[in-house]
Amino acid sequence: MPVVVVVGAQWGDEAKGKVVDCLAQDADMVVRYGGGSNAGHTVRFDGREFKLHLVPSGIFRPQVVNIIASGVVVDPQVLMEEIRSLQAQGVTVDNLLVSASAHVVMPYHRLLDALEEKQRGSAQIGTTCRGIGPAYADKAARKGIRMADLRQPERFAAVLRRALEEKSRLLERVYEVQCPSFEDIWREYEEYLPVLRPLIADTDPLVYTAVQKGQRVVFEGAQGTLLDLDHGTYPYVTSSHPVAGGACVGTGIGPTHIDAVIGVAKAYTTRVGAGAFPTEQPNETGNYLRERGREYGTTTGRPRRCGWLDAVVLRYAAQVNSLTAFAMTLLDVLSGLDTVQICRAYRLPDGQVTEQFPSDSAVLEQCEPVYEQLPGWKEEIADATSWDDLPENAHRYVQKVEELTGVPVAMVSVGPQRHQTFWRHGVYAERPVRTLQLLAQRQSQAE
Ligand code: IMP
Repeated sequence: MPVVVVVGAQWGDEAKGKVVDCLAQDADMVVRYGGGSNAGHTVRFDGREFKLHLVPSGIFRPQVVNIIASGVVVDPQVLMEEIRSLQAQGVTVDNLLVSASAHVVMPYHRLLDALEEKQRGSAQIGTTCRGIGPAYADKAARKGIRMADLRQPERFAAVLRRALEEKSRLLERVYEVQCPSFEDIWREYEEYLPVLRPLIADTDPLVYTAVQKGQRVVFEGAQGTLLDLDHGTYPYVTSSHPVAGGACVGTGIGPTHIDAVIGVAKAYTTRVGAGAFPTEQPNETGNYLRERGREYGTTTGRPRRCGWLDAVVLRYAAQVNSLTAFAMTLLDVLSGLDTVQICRAYRLPDGQVTEQFPSDSAVLEQCEPVYEQLPGWKEEIADATSWDDLPENAHRYVQKVEELTGVPVAMVSVGPQRHQTFWRHGVYAERPVRTLQLLAQRQSQAE
């Protein structure tokens, strides 16, 4: 079984958690490779619902080792809450480890995130205010605190004092707000550390060994391709690397070890926060998608902006992630519409039509979508358990996505529950990863 990366193909919230949960059924290890508690992964099964922000979505499978890898920024407060909530619901976290190299999101990072957003005024990014940007900024500036620093009290005290010297000057002199004190943070962490310390490990060699031994490893992405710091719609992006390459940097595995990359895409498009969104429908259609798709943020509760599926975005995601397959989620949300639309190209202000995703957000702002219109389907499809159960027009819709992107849609999801998912290639329905292997092979033969 290959090493699989699960990556968001749009602006995040594509239901990656559900896809990872399904793949975890066959996996030995699930490794979260980037982002922080800005992510919200919802997993539903047996009539229960779990919302995860940091813990990998393989946690519900006791045979799976779950790793929060070095590319993640970890807020101990959120991790503690999540662990407690999982335990209270009878889920063991004995199979969870956190990389010693992962950086820590401190209370002053959360404070700075909110203050920096306020200072941006009308140019606000719409961050989740979880301290993600400031924590990654400290990491890049080589002044962050890492999980390894939490292992010994003296070492933690020293790095915390040093960090607070700078942060208190910044907060008090520039922003004129009180910086959390050493004592306050120390008191808070005294509660967390006995629980967190045993989870801290040098995880890179563990991941490497699993890959070397041919174990089944799933790399779980957070956010989406269009929120990537380098490849997304800068500056309306997050501060990490959600793209598949981020799985290598964030876990310590080289690119040649990756066998398959699944891009998770909704059957339509959503975006939270500010920034260009060519296919946005700020109208009845958008409301229809929002209500049927329950498009409200898992982390912040914010209503998501909704619009038609954008194949230019998906082609771009295929390009920057080397996608071997798509997993299409929330197809059931489109039921009931007379017609459905897919954006196949953009019209630029000079009238030129392009199929390329522009690297400049200012250009993207001016792009008009060029749509293909397809007939919709009235039937509810939440009970579909196979490709053959879907109406003909739903088949056409999925096949159009394959035609416009050149990437097979290997998995389809028609509802939030675990069982509302099927693999399209019937013979391999019980061996999803084998399917991916075949798809990857087929693609390389075609090239
Ligand atoms: P930050 O990651 O909190 O700094 O937010 C930066 C941008 O990424 C904002 O537009 C957020 O709404 C967006 N963002 C961050 N995490 C997620 C996510 O998990 N899903 C969707 N959007 C996200």
